[in-house]
Amino acid sequence: MFLLFVPIISNGQTEEKQVNKLIINADMGKHKISRHIYGHFAEHLGRCIYGGIWVGIDSPIPNTRGIRNDVVQALRELDIPNLRWPGGCFADTYHWKDGVGPYNDRPSIVNVHWGGVTEDNSFGTHEFMELCEQLDCEVYITGNLGSGTVQEMAEWVEYLTSDAESPMTKLRKENGHKAPWQVKFWGIGNENWGCGGNMSPEYYADLMRRYSTYCRDFSGNKLIKIGGGPYGADYNWTEVLMKEPKNRGMMQGLSLHYYTVFKDWGNKGSATQFTEEEWFGTIKTTLKMEELISGHSTIMDKYDQEKRIGLYVDEWGNWFDVEPGTEPGFLYQQNSLRDAIVAAVNLNIFNQYCERVKMANIAQTVNVLQAMVLTRKQKMVLTPSYYVFKMYKVHQNAILLPSEIKCEEYQLGEEKVPALSVSASVNKDGIIHISVVNVNPNKNMRLECEIRGAKISSVSGEILTAKEINAFNDFDRNERVFPVKFSGAKLKGEKMIIDVPAKSVMMLELN
Ligand code: AHR
Repeated sequence: MFLLFVPIISNGQTEEKQVNKLIINADMGKHKISRHIYGHFAEHLGRCIYGGIWVGIDSPIPNTRGIRNDVVQALRELDIPNLRWPGGCFADTYHWKDGVGPYNDRPSIVNVHWGGVTEDNSFGTHEFMELCEQLDCEVYITGNLGSGTVQEMAEWVEYLTSDAESPMTKLRKENGHKAPWQVKFWGIGNENWGCGGNMSPEYYADLMRRYSTYCRDFSGNKLIKIGGGPYGADYNWTEVLMKEPKNRGMMQGLSLHYYTVFKDWGNKGSATQFTEEEWFGTIKTTLKMEELISGHSTIMDKYDQEKRIGLYVDEWGNWFDVEPGTEPGFLYQQNSLRDAIVAAVNLNIFNQYCERVKMANIAQTVNVLQAMVLTRKQKMVLTPSYYVFKMYKVHQNAILLPSEIKCEEYQLGEEKVPALSVSASVNKDGIIHISVVNVNPNKNMRLECEIRGAKISSVSGEILTAKEINAFNDFDRNERVFPVKFSGAKLKGEKMIIDVPAKSVMMLELN
């Protein structure tokens, strides 16, 4: 139960007043919030890569070796820790050799999953590695297990990371890159229960071990291999992958995908034209993430008490109907204050489970689903979700502080969810950050906060909110959703009182 009642006397009458209370144990932090929880995902899907990231070297849009400067600059401000590529479902149809070598020799193929459009392979391995260099982030490549061969995957790893004399390294050098690259994360297929081959978990586990065996560590590069995991509450998939020591020995991570789809897949609702009922439904659906992480973690704990294998939530976010008039296969959606709330709530959940959750990748970086940035020709818009990632970057690699919250519920009709979501961390300089989300669009909340085990002398903060629940940023007009300074948190003796406005995300800094 989330309610705490204290009796107060007013006009001789006793009435019950709800108190929202947060306790933070500032001297009890043990676990690091991996910065990779703040990871991203870019697939060959719609205008994510083509137009959103890659415009080609001859484009009038300012670019560096074909990659948009504005997008790179915006993403660098998020300190993006890793980028997952080339899919998604696309990954299990992707043959990497199509995307290396002189542009004119690269074959055009059909992108069968996403709109059936022509994929000319102008953005391939070298271009992706260049992108990661420009972003200064770690590389996360998902190999093709669904329709590619073991040899093909093994050769890709060798092409990328080996320094030895071999046909693959010779090819890389001929294609203009003498030195091997560093590749940190390697996915062994994607959604292999579905678009990645419609496999049973047992069959996938056999293939995963086989492919993983041949993805070798070359020349000092050490791959963190991520087994393709379940969708949502498919706990049996996790059980099968985790139960056998021989499976566990072949992966350092297991992925989990879960999208926030309110209503149903055939009618997901508009990203910007929605009612309070849809707002509530989206929040309720997204909060299921906690139950899923807890459920999969319990299974993982059974077989891996040392928590050697991380849970990699490498696809998550809101999935709404595409914007009217856009290609259905391109998954282009706008992004409103509701997306910001969803992003913040999920990041708080990942932080809380950071002992097991080692990575998360919101889907997807540019122009697809819950994007950070939207582009239209030479123009770019920063979304409310972008600003949440910017505010939250202070949690990256900080130590999670155990916290306990008792709060009111946000009720609509018969249904209720906790109104507040919180997480707290302390960074290497001893600065405490607290992220607070109020999912109730109608009610400001007062939150009493007790920080145990630390002496606090000042508090400052930033807040993201807007007048309308569906406020969003768009091309050709001033921004409507962006963070501003917040001065509603006050120190009072040993306590801190925070006046949390309705439908807001805030980040507080305590010194
Ligand atoms: O992100 C869009 C798609 O969603 C991905 O390609 C796939 O992995 C998932 O089903």
